[in-house]
Amino acid sequence: MISQNEQKNLVASVAIDTLIGQGKIFSGMKIGLGTGSTAEPAVRRLAQRIDDGTLADIKAVVTSFGTQNLCEELGIPVYSMNDRIIGGHLDLTIDGADEVDPCNNVIKGGGAALLREKIAAYNSTTFVIVADASKIVDTLGTGFRLPVEIIGEARVPVIAALNALGADCVLRQGVRKCGPVITDNGNQLLDIVWKEPVDPAVMEDKINGIVGVVDNGFFTKNKPIVFTVDADGSVIER
Ligand code: A5P
Repeated sequence: MISQNEQKNLVASVAIDTLIGQGKIFSGMKIGLGTGSTAEPAVRRLAQRIDDGTLADIKAVVTSFGTQNLCEELGIPVYSMNDRIIGGHLDLTIDGADEVDPCNNVIKGGGAALLREKIAAYNSTTFVIVADASKIVDTLGTGFRLPVEIIGEARVPVIAALNALGADCVLRQGVRKCGPVITDNGNQLLDIVWKEPVDPAVMEDKINGIVGVVDNGFFTKNKPIVFTVDADGSVIER
C-alpha cells in the first residue's frame, strides 16, 4: 500500500482528471474548492489542467483563507458565493473528508473550515469527496471527534445541550496561539465524541437546533460522489 500522502495526491489528481473526462468539470463552470491536505492537491491538479489549456474560464468559490491563498498562488480566479456571476449556486464542489461511512455520509471540519465547506457543498449540483483509505469507516463519529462551530458567548449552554444529547465536548485549542481556535468566521469549535453511535442525518439537524450552534461537521444532505483508494492502491469511485 502506498503512503497516506501518496494516496492523497493520487486520489485528488485521478478525481480531477476523471471528472473532466466525465464532463462534470468543464470550461466556464463555477466550482467550490475545499480545504485540507487532500483538497490541496485537487486544487493544484485543477490549476495544471487550466495551465495546459484543457479548462478555461473556471470561477472558484473557496472555503477558507488557506484555499484562497492557494488559488491566489496558482492564478485561479476566486469569487464570493454572493457574486452575481456565481448567483449562490455552484456546478460542483470538491473537498476532503475526515470520515466517510458506507452511505457516503461524511464528517468534515478537522481543519476548522466546516461552515464554508458546507455552504459550498449544499449549494452545489454535484458534491465530490476525495479521501485516502484511512477515512473510510463503518460508523461516523465514534473515532474521529465531530467538529461543531459555535458562537463563543454560548459555549456553556451549548456544551450542556450537547451533553444532554449524549456527547462529550472538548473546546479546540490553538497551536502556537493562546486560547481557543478561532475559525475563519470568527467563531469557536467544539470537538465532540458520542457515548453511543448516533444516526448522523438525525443528529445533524438536532445539533443545529441548539441556540448558539452555527453548524456541525455531519454532511448528510447532499450525498457526494466519493473517490478513495482500495487495498491494492488503485482509485475507486463510489
Ligand atoms: C477542513 O475543515 C476539513 O473538512 C478537511 O476537508 C478534512 O479535515 C480533511 O482534511 P485532510 O484532507 O487534510 O485529511
